[in-house]
Amino acid sequence: MKAVRFSEVGGPDVLRYEDVDQPTPGAGQVRVRVAASAFNAADAGMRGGFLPIPVVLPHVPGYDVSGTVDALGEGAGGLRVGDAVIGFLPMERDGGAAEYVIAPADALVPAPTTIPLPDAAALPSVALTAWQALFDDGKLTAGQRVLINGAGGVVGKYAVALARRAGVHVVATASPRSDAAVRAAGADQIVDHTTTDLLDAVDEQVDVLLNLAPIDPDRFAALVALVRDGGKVVSTTAFMATPGDEARGVSAATVFVLPDRNRLTELVSLVDGGALQVEVTRRIPLAELPALHAEAAAGRIEGKVVVQPA
Ligand SMILES: NC(=O)c1ccc[n+]([C@@H]2O[C@H](COP(=O)([O-])OP(=O)(O)OC[C@H]3O[C@@H](n4cnc5c(N)ncnc54)[C@H](OP(=O)(O)O)[C@@H]3O)[C@@H](O)[C@H]2O)c1
Repeated sequence: MKAVRFSEVGGPDVLRYEDVDQPTPGAGQVRVRVAASAFNAADAGMRGGFLPIPVVLPHVPGYDVSGTVDALGEGAGGLRVGDAVIGFLPMERDGGAAEYVIAPADALVPAPTTIPLPDAAALPSVALTAWQALFDDGKLTAGQRVLINGAGGVVGKYAVALARRAGVHVVATASPRSDAAVRAAGADQIVDHTTTDLLDAVDEQVDVLLNLAPIDPDRFAALVALVRDGGKVVSTTAFMATPGDEARGVSAATVFVLPDRNRLTELVSLVDGGALQVEVTRRIPLAELPALHAEAAAGRIEGKVVVQPA
C-alpha cells in the first residue's frame, strides 16, 4: 500500500511517499481503509523532533483519521467490517497518512452520517481539545463567562459552539476573515483583534480566559487582568508557559489533548444534530502531504486540511 512516512526526524524533506507492507491487525485492533487523515501542527512537531512523543521510526503521521473497518483482529469487539469510523489514534503509533491504518478498536467510534466520511477526519483531536480546555481545565458551567482568544481558528470555533451550548457567555476574538464563522458558532461578543485591543473591549471580567492564538508571552500575561479573582487561564499553545496570577488566585493550565471515546461519540452526535459544524478548508491527495508539511514549515496553514489516499 502507499503511505507517507519518515525514517529520521527533520525538515519536511524527511517525508517519503512510498510503498509499504499492508499492516495486519493484532489482538484488540482493527485495520481501517483510510478515507482521510487530518493534518495537525503536532504531526509537524513529531516529524521535526520538537514534540516529546516517543514515535518508533519509520513513522506514519496522521493521528486523526476517518475510514471504513476493513479487517478485525482477535477480540476487536463492537466493530464490523464495513463500519464507517473516526478516531484520535495513539500519537506514538502509525497514523492514517496511508491507504490503511491499524487502530485500537477502542479508539474508534461510528463516523458522523451527515458529512462526507473524509471530512470527518477533521473532527477528533481538535474538537476534543476544545472540550477538554473548556470543561476539564476551565471547569466552565452555565452562566459563567469565557474569553476565547483565537476563536477564529479550528479549535476556536468548536470551543465557541461547545461553550455556548453549555450556557456559557462567550466573548471571542475574530479577524474579519473569521468573523462570520465565529458569529455563526454562537459567540455573544466578538472583538476584532486586528483593530481593537481586548483590554479596552472587554468591560466585564471573565471566569476563564482560553488562549488559542500565537500571541507573545508578554501580551498573554497582560490579558490575565481580564480574568476575575479566583478564575482560570487555559491555553493550548503549549510552546509557551501559561500565565496565572497567584496573588489573585488565578490559576494557569496548559492543555495536552487526550483521547476520549465517550466524548468523541457525543461530538459526533452534535455534528449529526447540526449543533457543531466541521469545517474543512482543503482536501489534498496523500502524495501531496510532504508539500503540505513544507507549506506549514514556511508559514501558517489556514483551517483544517484533510489528506486522502488515491
Ligand atoms: N495542546 C494541545 O493538545 C493542542 C491541541 C490542538 C491544537 N493545539 C494548538 O492550539 C492552537 C490553536 O489551534 P488551531 O488549530 O485552532 O489553530 P489555528 O486554526 O491556526 O487558529 C488560531 C487562530 O488564532 C487567530 N489569531 C491569530 N493571531 C491572533 C491574535 N494576535 N489575537 C487573537 N487571535 C489571533 C487566528 O484567527 P483570526 O485571525 O481569523 O481571528 C487563527 O485562526 C495551535 O497553536 C495548535 O497547535 C494544541
